Amino acid sequence: AIERTLSIIKPDAVAKNVIGEIYARFEKAGLRIIAAKMLHLSREQAEGFYAVHQQRPFFKDLVDFMISGPVMVQVLEGENAIQVNRDLMGATDPRKAALGTIRADFANTVDENAVHGSDGLETAKTEVDYFFSTQEICNRTR
Ligand code: CMP
Repeated sequence: AIERTLSIIKPDAVAKNVIGEIYARFEKAGLRIIAAKMLHLSREQAEGFYAVHQQRPFFKDLVDFMISGPVMVQVLEGENAIQVNRDLMGATDPRKAALGTIRADFANTVDENAVHGSDGLETAKTEVDYFFSTQEICNRTR
């Protein structure tokens, strides 16, 4: 089915100046960017986005990192978009990420792992709504 997923290019990858290289991977995999914005997240925004991880030991470091510089946030649409994006990203820990994935190529550590992508249909909807209003999302038929 055609799905939408929320993608974030994290501060480490923005600082490495590889937004375009990562966008090229999305496009080559058949995903369409149907909304995008650059944001420097506030602590409140980052904490809200990662609220499900609030009790995890890495929460504070994760939030500190996510507000350390600008991020690029986008909605990707396409057939099976959630899994396609997860395959492009590779494992959360870049040391375990398959060769040729975004995290293997651009990330250094599990904390600074270049990209985020929604992990399922429900979270995708919640995460897209967290950053984008319906008017900010373009319906692209082609
Ligand atoms: P992300 O997909 O953005 O979702 C939560 C983030 O927490 C994750 O990517 C990692 O960057 C970070 N993180 C740090 N330590 C861990 C861990 N042990 N397990 C999962 N995520 C972690």
